[in-house]
Amino acid sequence: MLKVGFVGWRGMVGSVLMQRMQEDGDFNGIEPVFFTTSQVGQPGPDVGVDVPALKDAFAIDELKALDVIITCQGGDYTGEVYAKLRKSGWQGYWIDAASTLRMEDEATIVLDPVNRKVIDDQLAKGAKTFVGGNCTVSLMLMGLGGLFEADMIEWMTSMTYQAASGSGAKHMRELLNQMGALRDSVGNELADPSSAILDIDRKVTAAMRSSEFPTDNFAAPLAGSLLPWIDTKLENGQSREEWKAGVESNKILGLRDNPVPIDGLCVRVGAMRSHSQAFTIKLRQDVPLDEIEDRIASHNEWVKVIANDKDATIKGLTPSAVTGTLDVPVGRLRKLAMGGEYLSAFTAGDQLLWGAAEPLKRMLKILRE
Ligand code: HSE
Repeated sequence: MLKVGFVGWRGMVGSVLMQRMQEDGDFNGIEPVFFTTSQVGQPGPDVGVDVPALKDAFAIDELKALDVIITCQGGDYTGEVYAKLRKSGWQGYWIDAASTLRMEDEATIVLDPVNRKVIDDQLAKGAKTFVGGNCTVSLMLMGLGGLFEADMIEWMTSMTYQAASGSGAKHMRELLNQMGALRDSVGNELADPSSAILDIDRKVTAAMRSSEFPTDNFAAPLAGSLLPWIDTKLENGQSREEWKAGVESNKILGLRDNPVPIDGLCVRVGAMRSHSQAFTIKLRQDVPLDEIEDRIASHNEWVKVIANDKDATIKGLTPSAVTGTLDVPVGRLRKLAMGGEYLSAFTAGDQLLWGAAEPLKRMLKILRE
């Protein structure tokens, strides 16, 4: 029976992973061991099977006893522990949600509905390090996998609308506090149907700009606004989040020698945990729209083509529609005014499921096959 260690299982991504594994009975048939950075010796969580007391997540000797380690503890932990553990001679499988190792040669980025062949090839070569992709990258590839599989894309842009959860749990709370503060700033006016909307707007704007407005985490108002920058700046002017779209997508697809250019702008919006993205896709050829729809829809069991009309779009192609589900709707599919080779598309998906926990959960299953 595989001895599987879990690190960072209490955080947001880790909790979603635990929940998904329990839903699918994934703890049956493994020997789970839970690690902690602060509560060594306390009882482990109830996951339906016996588990030992919590072990120290930094104890290399404890970690060395495992066949598989799944970590959602974050990049600092990976940076601190991974190299030490490998140096100690540990040959087990490391499955990681953090970005630290993603672009390392020894790491395979996992998104098996899209790159199962790449994963299998790497396993056959003895690869032991598997990392989940960036959330927008994974969600984009789940949506457009059919077009990549058919090698139909010459280049594409991805303009993102990323949810607060991508920054972390505290940020989700801050977004809600910002929303509440805006609403409360005009509570009386809202109760009076005859109050002037421009007065309401003036007060809301003043509240948003006031030093009292809760911005400790985002460093700026997000509610009632947006933030067109995510992560650090690279020398070429891209944000790191924007850079990931191109390099990670091509690594996942095994196209590093002949990459498809993918670039765009990443924007934080006031959604809770589902990211959305708008794409401009330059096709290699003027392929009819129905063939495009068929290829997208038939690629995997989670992608769903949404008809390009208003009712279907606002019902099914939004963060509120997809949150908490594994569905990856793709819509707004139409040829752009630039010509038949130019396709627009829009997608939304739960950033904590396909964007984070699900590919890790599935990688563990692949190891058990
Ligand atoms: N970097 C992503 C975001 C989340 O900030 O939305 C993790 O992939």
